[in-house]
Amino acid sequence: MILAIETSCDETSVAVVNNRNILSNVLFSQVKHHQEFGGVVPELASRLHAEKIDKIVLKAMRDASINFNDLTHIAVTVGPGLEGALLVGITAANMLAQSLQLPIIPVNHLHGHIYAALSHSELVFPSLICLASGGHTMIVYMKENFQFEIIANTMDDACGECFDKVARMLDLGYPGGPKIETLAKKGTPVIRFPHPIKHNPSAFSFSGLKTAVKSKIEKKDASSEDIAASLQHCIATILNEKLTLSFKNVDVEQVVLCGGVFANQYIRDFILHELPLSNVVIPELKLCTDNAAMIGLAANEYLKKGVFTNQYFGCHTQLGLTFPEQR
Ligand code: KG4
Ligand code: ZN
Repeated sequence: MILAIETSCDETSVAVVNNRNILSNVLFSQVKHHQEFGGVVPELASRLHAEKIDKIVLKAMRDASINFNDLTHIAVTVGPGLEGALLVGITAANMLAQSLQLPIIPVNHLHGHIYAALSHSELVFPSLICLASGGHTMIVYMKENFQFEIIANTMDDACGECFDKVARMLDLGYPGGPKIETLAKKGTPVIRFPHPIKHNPSAFSFSGLKTAVKSKIEKKDASSEDIAASLQHCIATILNEKLTLSFKNVDVEQVVLCGGVFANQYIRDFILHELPLSNVVIPELKLCTDNAAMIGLAANEYLKKGVFTNQYFGCHTQLGLTFPEQR
């Protein structure tokens, strides 16, 4: 029975997870506090986490209908993320673990996104994971459980960041992904945006795409709706083609699509339709974007490897399970 805490960016979230069952998953989104600044303000994020964390812990316990005595472990995101924001969750975890005399499971946020898939499916190996979020865009090959090999990574921006920056150019506000998705429903993907390094199996690049969209907006010869639909279509194509390239180099039994960008219905449907494989797993929408249940699910896997600690620790603690990106 794990209580999991996630505060790596702008969501304060606490969940209770029992094996693979999510008993509660409470989330306080700070979005409206950051909106006027057009993006996440790290210092504000830390303060808001500190204000909310105790109330969110209590709500997660109430929703799960359990007592503190029922808990066996405390899990917490230790990175990657905003240092100050992470420290609020880590401090809360240290405090809870100390007072309840429980071990802590320090979780890599990216593993959280991957293991979110366990909410409704087994992982079948070898598995090819496409992780697309606001901070990362990568393809990870898991030959077996706990083996994470990054076979493609972005050279510049993450694709969620591309959505966010274009949304800002179009004055749509933050976060950009959901705003672009809504606008795209009224448009048609008629503009052909570039697909840089299309034939490179080990790298993504999104900064050129961002610049191409910027010059299209400046030309003023296309509607915002068509620009949004075309950007969304272009990103879906890029993710799909890179996955297809990866297929050529490795054995794959299953594909997992995870991270905030896969909350986009158009991108989910596009890749499901295009991929030459029936075993494709995508976590439900609310488990794609940041949440603590995915941290609890990852922690549950870590336990199988005996990865936990009885000591206090800080950001980016590495205990057994390594992931190159975190260093
Ligand atoms: O996984 P996540 O919640 O946080 C990070 O770990 O970064 O991902 C957030 C990213 C943001 O860039 C956001 O714009 C994008 O995911 N996103 C979307 C959608 N919902 C969130 N992108 C496209 N369409 C969406 N519906
Ligand atoms: Zn995330």
